[in-house]
Amino acid sequence: MSKPLSAETIALVKATAPALQQHGVAITTRMYERLFVNEDVKALFDQAAQESGEQPKRLAAAILAYAQNIDKLEALGGPVERIVTRHVETGVKREHYPYVAEALLPAIRDVLKEAATDEILAAWGEAYWFLADILIGKEEEAYAQ
Ligand code: HEM
Repeated sequence: MSKPLSAETIALVKATAPALQQHGVAITTRMYERLFVNEDVKALFDQAAQESGEQPKRLAAAILAYAQNIDKLEALGGPVERIVTRHVETGVKREHYPYVAEALLPAIRDVLKEAATDEILAAWGEAYWFLADILIGKEEEAYAQ
């Protein structure tokens, strides 16, 4: 597992979580515009979209909710297992994670503008990868079985 998040990162992420939640839909909409420029990534979602049009909101909402609870990660067990199951069903792999990071972080800046400072985005980047590493590890275990 990745090294623990620093107290400073946790504080920065927590401090901005309310603003991100307030603008959640704008951020998720922007994030998916950016993400789906990549046709291979888009195809992962196209198949699944038959089932759920709500997905764009869910993925980013999960990331935002995670950030809000970043100082009590033990509460994450149930949701994490569910995400892992969906990801394995839809074929999400390690190599897809950078695309979401590269879509989410600029989307935060697009929406929050100068309020999203470099320091804040760096903290969010760290927090994203901390969660991503947990998911990637569990997904690789599931694929190996
Ligand atoms: C830290 C990163 C991520 C988080 C927190 C996250 C979160 C979620 C959540 C909450 C769901 C819905 C689970 C449910 O059905 O309740 C989901 C499903 C899904 N995610 Fe992720 N995800 C992440 C990364 C990714 C990446 C990198 C990809 C691929 C580019 C991806 C693609 C998908 C797909 C295709 C689904 C299923 C869509 C559907 O059910 O219609 N996710 N994810």
